Amino acid sequence: MDAITLLKDDHKAVEKLFKRFEKAGDNAHAEKRRVVDRIIEELSIHAAVEEQLFYPVTRATVPATEDMALESLEEHHIVKWVLSELERMDPADERFDAKVTVLIENVRHHVEEEEGEYFPQVRDELGRKALGELGDAMAEAKKRAPTHPHPRSPDTPPGNIVVGAAAAAVDRATDAFTGAAQGSLAAAQDVIARVTGANRRGSSSPNGSTTARSSARRARSSIDEAADKVTAAAERAKRTGEATVDSARTGAKRTGSTARGAARRTTSAGKGTATTAKRAARRTTGSARGTATTAKRGAARTKAAAKGAATQTRRSASRAGASS
Ligand SMILES: [Fe+2]
Ligand SMILES: [Fe+2]
Repeated sequence: MDAITLLKDDHKAVEKLFKRFEKAGDNAHAEKRRVVDRIIEELSIHAAVEEQLFYPVTRATVPATEDMALESLEEHHIVKWVLSELERMDPADERFDAKVTVLIENVRHHVEEEEGEYFPQVRDELGRKALGELGDAMAEAKKRAPTHPHPRSPDTPPGNIVVGAAAAAVDRATDAFTGAAQGSLAAAQDVIARVTGANRRGSSSPNGSTTARSSARRARSSIDEAADKVTAAAERAKRTGEATVDSARTGAKRTGSTARGAARRTTSAGKGTATTAKRAARRTTGSARGTATTAKRGAARTKAAAKGAATQTRRSASRAGASS
């Protein structure tokens, strides 16, 4: 199915619900509740598939849509907060109609921009085949998308795919639970009415719906809180991991610089020892040379003295020979 046709069909379905709400009388609280619940479901699914597939794919393949996609995500974010408030609000509340009116204005503005600017650019750039494949993937994703708003959950891949799958599972389980609970309550009320002869279904049914709806809300709010906790824990783990890596790097630097300092000190101590040894060797050599020189001089002196004594002895002998 063509992706743009799929999204425009969703827009038309939501616009029909808006018109139905606008036509409802001031005190048509039950009808308004029903219509707003349908709007919440339709818009939650529609926003999810745009965020999971249409925006990421078009941002990646048609760069000119980047700013429009980012603006669309912010508009979705505001719409999801309003939807989450309407989900909890009593239709008789004095703020209910005003809130729905603001929601309708926001969504109509958003749809106008998507259909007037965003989609035509995508249609010009992506061929029929690509739009067909994207549309098929989106039609499949709609079957598994969250049916309630989760404004605190991530809205871009991969976070929205992971958290969206968990949120969708809880949404769909609580929807089934709400439906089953309402069915059981209605059946029980029919039995009571038959036994007592009084038709209490009309008066007590809204209480049953309210109970089932508030249980479902609590379950969904638990998943949102769990998603917040998981996201916070992941961020803490990331920060701790980064701090550990930093501290390991600093430790390694310190150890390296200590080792280098020790190596430098050892080398310089070694050099000092070598210098001292060389000097001692030089001194020893010099002293040995001095001793040798002194010995040579002593020998020379002894030799000269012996020569002198021999000469004198020879002279004395010749003088004695001559006088005899
Ligand atoms: Fe959108
Ligand atoms: Fe849309």
